[in-house]
Order: sequence, then structure tokens, then C-alpha cells
Amino acid sequence: MSEIAKIELDGKTFEFPVIEGTENEKAIDISKLRDATGYITLDPGYKNTGATKSSITYLDGEKGILHYRGYSIEQLAEKASFIEVAYLLIYGNLPNQTDLDVFTNSITKHTLVHEDMKQFFEAYPAKAHPMGVLASMVCSLSTFYPESLDPNRSPEAKDLTILRLLAKLPTLAAWSYKNAMRHPFMYPKNDLDYCSNFLHMMFAMPTEDYTVDPVVSNALNKLLILHADHEQNCSTSTVRIVGSSQANLYASISAGISALWGPLHGGANQAVIEMLEQIHADGGDVDKWVTKAKDKEDPFRLMGFGHRVYKNFDPRATIIKKACDDVLEKMGINDPMLEIAKKLEKVALEDEYFKSRNLYPNVDFYSGIIYRALGIPTEMFTVMFAIGRLPGWIAQWKEMTENNEPIGRPRQIYTGATPREYVSIEKR
Ligand code: SDX
Repeated sequence: MSEIAKIELDGKTFEFPVIEGTENEKAIDISKLRDATGYITLDPGYKNTGATKSSITYLDGEKGILHYRGYSIEQLAEKASFIEVAYLLIYGNLPNQTDLDVFTNSITKHTLVHEDMKQFFEAYPAKAHPMGVLASMVCSLSTFYPESLDPNRSPEAKDLTILRLLAKLPTLAAWSYKNAMRHPFMYPKNDLDYCSNFLHMMFAMPTEDYTVDPVVSNALNKLLILHADHEQNCSTSTVRIVGSSQANLYASISAGISALWGPLHGGANQAVIEMLEQIHADGGDVDKWVTKAKDKEDPFRLMGFGHRVYKNFDPRATIIKKACDDVLEKMGINDPMLEIAKKLEKVALEDEYFKSRNLYPNVDFYSGIIYRALGIPTEMFTVMFAIGRLPGWIAQWKEMTENNEPIGRPRQIYTGATPREYVSIEKR
């Protein structure tokens, strides 16, 4: 017998079903609330509201657990390739060797971008933020592939669009960087794996040979896996709600890139490094900056700290922090920002303000330091997050379209003017 939730309203008792997920999470199904009671719920930021049922990613904020399709990120980050994880998220299971080869080769075949798109880049100023370039380039892909405009055209057409997007995003990202540097674009190379190909397009020059450092490509592989999905976060919810209107995948992902850009979300990794550099330039007094972060009158927040769901450690931050030490040691880099970050973390974790609010380092706190070590410029950090999150966005969009979920349209409580008559301007 499933549980029932009872709500007393206006002297009446209303009953609503309780649903339970495979990890024993529970929800009150209020899909009939307004019809039954005339009431809606109000939950700014959706802190207590589930938008959907999903079988893709499970996270437990109290226990610091993150699973993709039942596999822990600790195991996947250690043993899998990013392309394997992309396949797992999108199609539900780890691929066998044949499936992986077909998937990998299909992606490789689509890494080129239509030559006409190159002129789009030339119209951007050198100072164009790559997230602004990427969001518009991804939406522009829909204009070159009109068959993608109907997301429900056929499973084959949907898979082709998914492959094109996975294949072309790294090319578009690298070209946005080359364009900002006013360097010649480097074309993808079919003999390189996904991460090495991206690094090649980012850092190779036509005038000299470039060899990808396996330490760098392995670190990038791990970082992309750790960013690959995170259930119903801001940008994923954006992808879902845009896709719920039956907008095509390119438009839905472009919207997700825009949502990710914000410094409270994926833009935090850039904001963390800028914060660390600010503290370093200010003399490295972390106590002063922790005090500022606690001061309600001061807009400064400790970027890379806190999380809507993780009220304990973010398991991704734990893995990234260790990878940070490994990469910097292997590459012989001594980054003063890492020392400031560790001091900041220590001071904050011992401070009552942060402890009482369960504020811990999140995925963005250390990732920027690794990206710096890999040679990725600061303005490209959130682009790296987007490349990592793409398979998750795609998987969530695909699940939403295949479950025929209704168009997203939240309600509101109106608090504006009550009815009044129009008055001519002379009488105002
Ligand atoms: C990502 O949702 C996801 O899954 C996102 C993500 C993903 O993989 O998709 O994990 C990626 O976006 C990680 C978060 C990156 N953002 C940052 O690092 C920016 C700094 N963090 C904060 O802005 C904040 O912690 C959020 C936005 C992450 C979460 O905000 P919430 O859940 O809305 O919490 P809140 O703002 O209501 O904060 C609760 C309290 C407040 O103080 P009080 O009103 O109780 O006195 O904690 C304080 C806040 O002022 N607080 C901070 C703080 N974060 C929260 N105070 C100082 N520094 C901070 N970083």
C-alpha cells in the first residue's frame, strides 16, 4: 500500500499519492493539487520541488554520493573514458567494444564544422567571451541541419544530431579560442582520441609539430567525466524546459550553455581563479577575504563554495583536489593559487559561518587550478564545463522527449495592481 499525504485546507482534507524512487527518495505527487484544491505551491528556486522523474543520475547531497546510471563517479573517473561515459549517460548502459568503436568512429567522422561557419567567427571581436560565441554557434548548427528541427523526426535523425553535437562542440570551442587569439584554426585529426583532439585544436600551430602530453589528456578525460551530468541543475533544467516546447536539440543545448555561463553556476570556475588572483594580488590574507564573504553588507562571496544540494562535501571536489596535486606534481608546476585555495578551504571549513550553513568546496573550487596547469586560459574554463556537461544535457533532453513530458509552464502568485481604469495622459 503506497503512502498518502494529507493536506487540510478550508476545513477539508485532501489526499495526494507519495511516490518513491529506486534510491528511496520520496515525493508528494501534487500534479492534481490545483484541480482538487484551487491552490498551487510556491517554491522560489525550486529548492523543494521535483520537476521530473529521471533514471540518469542519482546524487545524495548529505552523503556526497554521485552515480551516473548506477555507476559511481569514483569508479568512472578512474577507469572509463569520457566517450564511454557519454554513451552510458545517453544510452543507459556501458558500451561493449563494438558499440564503443561504432560510437567513437561516428563521432570522429563528424568533428568537422561546415566551412561557412568559419566566417561567423571572424565577425566576433577578439575580446568576445567564448561562452557567448559557443552559445550562438551551437544554435547556428541548427541552420545547417534542417532535418534536426523536428526533434521527433526519427530515432536515426535524433542519434545523428546527438553525434554531430558531441563531435562538433570541441571543434567550435577550440576555434572560439583560436579566434580570440587571432591564431589560425587547427582542424580535427581523426587519429586522435576525443580529449587529445581538443587539445590539439586548442594548442597546435600549423608551423610546428605538436604532441599531446598524456598527463594533460588523461587529466582532461577525468575532468570531463566529473562534469558530465548532475541531475536537475540550473542549466540542465534550462535544456529540459526549452526542449519541452519541442525546440530542437541545438537550440536546447545553446540555452543550457547560456544558463551555465552565470557565476553562480558553471561560471564559478572562472570566478574562483579571478577570486584567488585577487586575494594573491591583495597580499594573500585569506582571513580578510573569509570575513568579507561572511559580511552580509559585502557582495563578495567565496566562489567555489556552497551548493544547493551538497550539504556535505561535493564528491567531485574531492577527486579534483587530488588530481590537482597529481597533475601539478607530474608537470612540475608550483601554482601559488593552489596554496591560497588550500588555505582558504582550511580557514572556511573551520569557521562557524560556513560550518553552520554546510558550505563546502564544490566542483568549481579546484577545477580552475587544473585547467590553468593544462594551459587552458581562464575565459575558457566554463567552456570546458560545457564540453563535459554536454552528454548529460543530451541524455536529459533525450529522456524528456522520449517520455513525452508536457511543456514546462510554472504558475505564479500575482502580487501586482488590482483592476483599475485607463486614465488619459492629461489626467495622470
Ligand atoms: C555548480 O546545482 C548543481 O548541481 C550545480 C553544479 C552542477 O554540476 O551543475 O554542481 C555546478 O553550479 C556549482 C556551484 C558553483 N557556484 C559557486 O561556487 C558560487 C558560490 N556559491 C553560492 O553562490 C551558492 O552557494 C550557490 C549558488 C551554489 C547555492 O546557493 P543556494 O543553494 O541558493 O544557497 P543560498 O544562496 O541561499 O545560501 C545559503 C546561505 C546564505 O546565507 P544566509 O542567508 O543563510 O545567512 O549560505 C550563504 C548565503 O549567503 N552562502 C555563502 C556562499 N554560498 C552560500 N556565503 C558566502 N560564500 C558563499 N559561496
